Parts: sequence; structure tokens; C-alpha cells
Amino acid sequence: MAWKHSVIMQMGRFLLLVILFLPCEMTSSVLTVNGKTENYILDTTPGSQESLICAVQNHTREEELLWYREAGRVDLKSGNKINSSSVCVSSISENDNGISFTCRLGRDQSVSISVVLNVTFPPLLSGNDFQTVEEGSNVKLDCNVKANPQAQMMWYKNSSLLDLEKSHHQIQQTSESLQLSITKVKKSDNGTYSCIAKSPLKTESLDFHLIVKDKTISVPAEPIIAASVVVFLTFCFGLIARRKKIMKLCVKDKDPHRETAL
Ligand SMILES: *[C@@H]1O[C@H](CO)[C@@H](O)[C@H](O)[C@H]1NC(C)=O
Ligand SMILES: *[C@@H]1O[C@H](CO)[C@@H](O)[C@H](O)[C@H]1NC(C)=O
Ligand SMILES: *[C@@H]1O[C@H](CO)[C@@H](O)[C@H](O)[C@H]1NC(C)=O
Ligand SMILES: *[C@@H]1O[C@H](CO)[C@@H](O)[C@H](O)[C@H]1NC(C)=O
Ligand SMILES: *[C@@H]1O[C@H](CO)[C@@H](O)[C@H](O)[C@H]1NC(C)=O
Repeated sequence: MAWKHSVIMQMGRFLLLVILFLPCEMTSSVLTVNGKTENYILDTTPGSQESLICAVQNHTREEELLWYREAGRVDLKSGNKINSSSVCVSSISENDNGISFTCRLGRDQSVSISVVLNVTFPPLLSGNDFQTVEEGSNVKLDCNVKANPQAQMMWYKNSSLLDLEKSHHQIQQTSESLQLSITKVKKSDNGTYSCIAKSPLKTESLDFHLIVKDKTISVPAEPIIAASVVVFLTFCFGLIARRKKIMKLCVKDKDPHRETAL
């Protein structure tokens, strides 16, 4: 019984030590951002404005606070640093999605609270929506997408889901684009392709016009260039030879018919 008692006493002393030393080892001050004591995700939308108020709780002295946007320090006015500090994130855009704002205790920067922006918006589509391609060559239709939450993407042609032909069509998708590659373009590939993005917020579509033109009979380029050079040089020599005559005519006679006749 006495043995058990001493064990309990020892454990009690140990716990007391832990309790006494914990607040000294760690920082006793606690931060809150908009009243929250832990990191959180802030849902917002483009064009809106959010104010984040960081405050130090249960502090016994003046505490300086720091704000970071990602890894960069935010410049705070002198009256907006001690014990509580607020930042205003205005005209939020699609590009601010995923950006973090962190409030830190100046004297111990490991004490911090982060807020990550979750900017939700319907799909934004873009791309080169008009392409002309020669029959038999390859073409890529790139539909760029930005959306949060992510959109479900697909290609339509002639108001129905594009019928994928093996080794003719190929689709590649990333979180930022949907690409349709067509190899050896056929006449029947001509038409309007619609890039469709389905998000819980909205379904958007962008039309891509593909014009397939007849294959031009290819002529080797080198002989044409060589011939052109010869023609050009001949013309130049002719011009030099007739220079005197031309100059004379220009000075003597301004008759436009005679000039152009040269
Ligand atoms: C601050 O102290 C009060 C009372 O001492 C306590 O109830 C509260 O939980 C403390 N707040 C934080 C954030 O630690
Ligand atoms: C900050 O808090 C400390 C401790 O509570 C207090 O003594 C000090 O006056 C406060 N300073 C400001 C600028 O609020
Ligand atoms: C962002 O908000 C949307 C819509 O409220 C939600 O579906 C999505 O899960 C949120 N994303 C994160 C990372 O919290
Ligand atoms: C488009 O679809 C309609 C019916 O679904 C069909 O009659 C027509 O031939 C198609 N046009 C092309 C260019 O494929
Ligand atoms: C080819 O597609 C374009 C764009 O959709 C359309 O305007 C044109 O009429 C089509 N031409 C032929 C020959 O089908």
C-alpha cells in the first residue's frame, strides 16, 4: 500500500513539473484569426473582399504580430501590429485561389495561424477558336480551363458527344486544359467542335471552328527560289544597263505612260 502510494506521489510530482514547465517552454500566448484558433480554409468568390483579424489571447505583455501573404511579409501600419492586427484582402480574383495568409507572433514565429483562400468560380474557357488545316496534316485543339471546383470536361461535335476514332482522335486532359489531337485530318473532320466544362456552379462551352481545306500539291521549294534569284538578278542587270536611259527619261519627260512602259 505504501509502495503504491509513493508511486502515485511521484507521478503527481512529475505531472506538476510538466504542468509548471510546459507554459515556460512553449509560448503561452495563443493567436486567433477571425476568432478561430486553428488554420482554416476561407470560402470566397471573385470580386469580394475579406478582412482577417488576428489577435493574441491570454498574453501578459505587448505582442507584435506579423502577417505573411504566402512567404512574403505584409507591410503593416504602425498602429496595426500590437496585440491585434488586421489585413483586408480586396478585389479577390480567380488567381487568388489557394493563396495563404498567415499571422505570426513576432517573438516566436512558430506560433501562427494560416488562412487559405478557396475562391470558387464557374469555368473560364479560352483557346484558339478558329483554325484552318490542310487535309492529311495533324491538328490540335487546345481548350484551356480554369474552374473551382474542377469542371468535368468533354468535346462535342455536331451537338453530340464526339465519337472518338482510334488512332485518329486523341484526348489529353490536365487540370488546366483539354486537348483534342486529330491525326491525318479528313474532310469529314471539318466543323465546329465544342469544348464543354461542367461544374456544379455552371456549364460553359466554347466553340472551336476547324476548317479543313484541300491538300495543295506541294512543289519543292529550292528550284523555285533558285529560279527567282536568276530572274531577279537578270532584272537588276537589265536595270543597270538601262539606268542612263531611265534617268534621262525621268528628267526630260514625266509622261507616266512612258515610264511604266519601261
Ligand atoms: C485564456 O484564458 C482563459 C481563462 O484563463 C481560458 O478559459 C481560455 O481557454 C484561454 N484561451 C486560450 C485561447 O487559451
Ligand atoms: C497589449 O497587451 C498588453 C498585455 O495585455 C497590454 O499591457 C498593452 O497595453 C497592450 N497594448 C496595446 C497597444 O493594446
Ligand atoms: C471550396 O469550396 C467549394 C464550394 O463550396 C467546395 O466544394 C470545395 O470542397 C472547397 N475546397 C476546399 C479545398 O475546401
Ligand atoms: C449532324 O447530325 C445530324 C443528326 O444528328 C446528321 O443528320 C448530320 O449529317 C450531322 N452533320 C454532320 C456534319 O456530321
Ligand atoms: C466547315 O466547318 C465550318 C465551321 O464549322 C463551317 O462553317 C463550314 O460550312 C464547314 N464546311 C464544310 C464544307 O462542311
